[in-house]
Amino acid sequence: MRKLDDLDVKGRRVLVRADLNVPLDGETITDDGRIRASVPTITALAEAGAKVIVCAHLGRPKGRPKPEFSLRPVARRLGELLGQDVAFATDVAGPGAQSTVAGLQEGQVALLENLRYEPGEESKDDATRRAFAERLAALAELYVGDGFGAVHRKHASVYDVPALLPHAAGGLVVAEVEVLRKLTDDTERPYVVVLGGAKVSDKLGVIANLLTKVDRLLVGGGMAYTFLAAQGHEVGNSLLQADQLDQVRGFLDEAAKRGVDLVLPVDVLAATGFAEDAPYDVVDATRIPADREGLDIGPETRELFAAKLADARTVFWNGPMGVFEFEAFAGGTRAVAEALIASDAFTVVGGGDSAAAVRRLGLAEDGFSHISTGGGASLEYLEGKTLPGLAALED
Ligand code: 3PG
Ligand code: MG
Repeated sequence: MRKLDDLDVKGRRVLVRADLNVPLDGETITDDGRIRASVPTITALAEAGAKVIVCAHLGRPKGRPKPEFSLRPVARRLGELLGQDVAFATDVAGPGAQSTVAGLQEGQVALLENLRYEPGEESKDDATRRAFAERLAALAELYVGDGFGAVHRKHASVYDVPALLPHAAGGLVVAEVEVLRKLTDDTERPYVVVLGGAKVSDKLGVIANLLTKVDRLLVGGGMAYTFLAAQGHEVGNSLLQADQLDQVRGFLDEAAKRGVDLVLPVDVLAATGFAEDAPYDVVDATRIPADREGLDIGPETRELFAAKLADARTVFWNGPMGVFEFEAFAGGTRAVAEALIASDAFTVVGGGDSAAAVRRLGLAEDGFSHISTGGGASLEYLEGKTLPGLAALED
């Protein structure tokens, strides 16, 4: 991959694909981690005298303009972080974008409107995507791929534009890939992976691959109930993906065969319903009452997971252990985060939700070796897949 230094950007229009997909509450950004992570590359380009055109997506507006998915609040925040105004284009690659770009001086920065307002961005049809990529590419002379969180998407701005312009990888993409390499090649052992989050089905590929690599796999969060059910236990009203039971039984067998320590919750907070103030009890994970749902891992499980992490040399963590958005059910996620902070291992927090959880719980980001900006992207990398946005930057 060519790096930023290999591009001569002075006085040239540089299109930067960033991942600025941040959580919003109305127009308020509730976690600006991805914007902050994008600043160094944009600053480096501006300081080198480029005319910087940033493009990004927000949410899933599905190919047409929807005001609640506008990047305008992000432009404002980006400007604050850069310490200079960011010109905001009111469309993606139309007259608005063209006139905004035409007004840029060396060292100035513009942000285009949400890429996913354009149906071509995510189209599965190569020609449709390519046609949109050509409109985007026409705005610039050079391309920098720095949206790590989106490199697993075969989208026009990620995959097709770099084929049309001289390109390089931004510093964020380079840094993220370097970290992920440490999780796949010559990994220091014990190597422990903690997975959580709602759906097992999102993680099938990565689990299958990790079972060939890790020493221990700790499973919490909503997906743990499908594992408990696969062992034949009652899980009450807890999240359950019944159609994944066979797959998960396969994983349990495979772990046993390979000597991977697959660790499931031993106790859970079983609530009467899905609510912030729902009454709950700590119950044995193998005996969840039929009218209850597990919303967090219990105190014994927190200790067990911490013990399994204590002597690790490498840790990757993706997905919350419970419904951390509700204070009463945030304890399991907090306990895992604290175990990572306490350990001497190389610790990587993978992705959107877990990274946001860390910040939301008020934990210091520098307690971890690396907090990735990519959830799906880092999981697909660990799964061993070719990521379109990285492949496109290779040549
Ligand atoms: C993310 O939030 O995971 C990335 O920004 C990619 O977004 P997507 O999952 O909607 O493609
Ligand atoms: Mg996602």
